[in-house]
Amino acid sequence: MKLWGGRFTKETNELVHNFNESLSFDQKFYRQDIRGSIAHVTMLAKQGILSQEDKEAIVDGLNGILEDIDSGRLKIEPGAEDIHSFVEETLTQRIGEAGKRLHTGRSRNDQVALDMKLYIRDEVQEIGHLVKDLQRELLTIMEENLDTFMPGFTHLQKAQPITLAHHMGAYYEMFARDRGRLHDIYERMNYCPLGSGALAGTTYPLDREYTAQLLDFYGPTLNSMDSVSDRDYLIELLAALSTIAMHLSRFCEEIIIWNTNEYQFVEIDDSYSTGSSIMPQKKNPDIAELIRGKTGRIYGALVALLTTMKGLPLAYNKDMQEDKELTFDAIDTVKGCLALFTGMISTMTFKKDVMEASAKNGFTNATDAADYLVGKGVPFRDAHGIVGRLVLYCLEKGIALDDMTLDEYKAISPVFEDDIYEAISLRTCVEKRTTIGAPGREAMERVIAIYKDQLKD
Ligand code: ARG
Repeated sequence: MKLWGGRFTKETNELVHNFNESLSFDQKFYRQDIRGSIAHVTMLAKQGILSQEDKEAIVDGLNGILEDIDSGRLKIEPGAEDIHSFVEETLTQRIGEAGKRLHTGRSRNDQVALDMKLYIRDEVQEIGHLVKDLQRELLTIMEENLDTFMPGFTHLQKAQPITLAHHMGAYYEMFARDRGRLHDIYERMNYCPLGSGALAGTTYPLDREYTAQLLDFYGPTLNSMDSVSDRDYLIELLAALSTIAMHLSRFCEEIIIWNTNEYQFVEIDDSYSTGSSIMPQKKNPDIAELIRGKTGRIYGALVALLTTMKGLPLAYNKDMQEDKELTFDAIDTVKGCLALFTGMISTMTFKKDVMEASAKNGFTNATDAADYLVGKGVPFRDAHGIVGRLVLYCLEKGIALDDMTLDEYKAISPVFEDDIYEAISLRTCVEKRTTIGAPGREAMERVIAIYKDQLKD
């Protein structure tokens, strides 16, 4: 049965029904739909628009439907056009006349705007918690690896020594910004569209402040046309999810590189790896690759919704129904990626010796050798040239700066003394970097204290 059959003389073409229906995916928010309807009739009764008796019958009926869907006693079978029609039809079948009064002073346009907001509001918080779980895991790794030296890279070439804690801290920062974005979205979206009607409000004396309050919104939205056609918060969410996915993807790319035979900085746990059907020796980083791969899907959802919205005149247009499947998919995908990623890194082994050995060769301490000369009064540009010659010499002999004898040093510049070895040791290179944000232990400990504080609330 259609909610709008009165004006029609023919049945809907079956293909049209199938193309038009949204029940197959909007049933995901049946709870939100029922919660919104209960708030709506509670307000209608308070305003004297609906009798107390009808309100009670409707609320009891809706709660019964909620329980029955939750328990599986009531199946959401295909047939109704959308979840709104399904709930209203079921209600009327169950309680009769009163059920037909549920939709007084409401349109499906403000109803769907409300349902989606209620659904998304919870998901935004849920995703925030998953990001926080990941940050907690990163913080644990950081605390355990303040002295785990490794090469830091630029252009994927060894650059300067850092620690594993410092490297993890960079990702911690990215995810902190992600959480900030989710928080901002929540703050901006948390206004209630219910009572906006189809587009122009209603002639009933609705109390929109009251429904907003019942549904834990900060207040009602202030323009009924915008209320039914605003999908900005979904675009913002998809942009935030795209950024989370991009961060996870970068991290996965590094883990894939670190997990190669050539690097061997990490070993992904057996429980998070897969094998090859033909090559017995293989242990593949499939989970990291899949997370990296799913990023495309999240970006796709963002571009799809931006494109859907770009030509829409005010107010509601059916195009907007397209917001749901792609948003739901993006949310479920990102939630899965976050949970899997956290599991993968919490079980992963960091091979500290390999990391440290890698930092030792590759001249990651060349800048520090130049700074040593500067400390002895040599202008930086000259120091740069001298160390460049040291590197060339080492490359020819196949050794590291640390392996040169003092005589060899002095042959290139007489300024070098015995204290050069201490000055360019990995530990010194890292420990001397003590300004806030740098990898030195002192700086890192200050930052970790700040992070711990952030994760408290
Ligand atoms: N299923 C619709 C949607 O998702 C609900 C709103 C329908 N309103 C309408 N006037 N057709 O957007």
